[in-house]
Order: sequence, then structure tokens, then C-alpha cells
Amino acid sequence: MGNITFTMIKPCAVAGGHSGEILAMIAGGGFKIKAMRMLRMSKADAESFYSVHSARPFYGELTDFMSSGPIVAAVLEKENAVAEYRKFIGSTNPADAAEGTVRKRFAKSIQENAVHGSDSDENALIEASFFFASRDLF
Ligand code: RTP
Ligand code: MG
Repeated sequence: MGNITFTMIKPCAVAGGHSGEILAMIAGGGFKIKAMRMLRMSKADAESFYSVHSARPFYGELTDFMSSGPIVAAVLEKENAVAEYRKFIGSTNPADAAEGTVRKRFAKSIQENAVHGSDSDENALIEASFFFASRDLF
């Protein structure tokens, strides 16, 4: 059970001006920010980040969306971070997201669902190292 997860505030939520509110929710949920930066992924970056989904029908749309504007990428620390953070953000489809979750509050659709959260300890480390060097972690 690891204590690190990786998140992105997706382009829809950054463009909507919700980065501050989402970061406040993250802090309120007991997650410590270990690294953070704002950047725009190229289409190639998004294709590489989401390569696990390359066979899915939504891969083209997803990578267009994720490279459409700036994101906020961050590494978060909490006990059992991966599972705790996925519970905290809510279901992929906002129609199924529980009350009080980030996606319930800020997601617009199954694609424009406000935030990303890693799905395993292994992927949290892979995803964190996609955006951050070890010296960027505090
Ligand atoms: P994420 O990776 O972003 O934290 O989301 P997740 O684990 O809840 O969902 P995942 O299955 O990994 O899907 C990655 C992202 O692809 C978009 N998506 N679109 N159109 C669709 O049916 C569909 N399904 C997924 C979402 O942006 C989802 O978060
Ligand atoms: Mg996922």
C-alpha cells in the first residue's frame, strides 16, 4: 500500500477557473502536495501518457482533449493514496459520482471529468516520473 498518487487537473477545469477550488478540496481531503506544475501537453505527450488506452474507441478524442489547453499536474501524499484519492474524486462518469466528490462538483461529462487519479501504486510512480524529476519532489 503506497502513499503516493499522481493527479492532473484537466483542461476543462483549468479553463473553467476551478484549479484553486480543486486544490483547496485536495488539501482539505488531507492530501499533501509533494510536487506541482502547470503545463500544456502536446498531442504526442497525451498519446504517450494514455498509451494504455490506445486501443479504446475514445483514445483520439481523449488525447485531443488532454492536449487542448493547460493542465495542473501534481504528486500527492497520503496513506493509501491511490485508493483514497480515487474515492475522493469519484466515478469516471460524473452521473455516477458520489456527493461531495471532485467530479460530482466539477465534471462536465465522462470525458471532461475535471481530474485524473492514478489507478495503482505502480502507475502512480510511472505517471509522476512522466512530469517530475526526483529533485522536483518535496
Ligand atoms: P483517469 O485515468 O483520468 O483518472 O480516469 P479513470 O481512471 O476514472 O478512467 P479511465 O478508464 O482511465 O479513462 C481515462 C479517461 O478517458 C476518458 N474517457 N472517456 N468517452 C468515454 O467513454 C470515456 N471513457 C473514459 C475520461 O476522461 C477518463 O477519465
Ligand atoms: Mg485511469
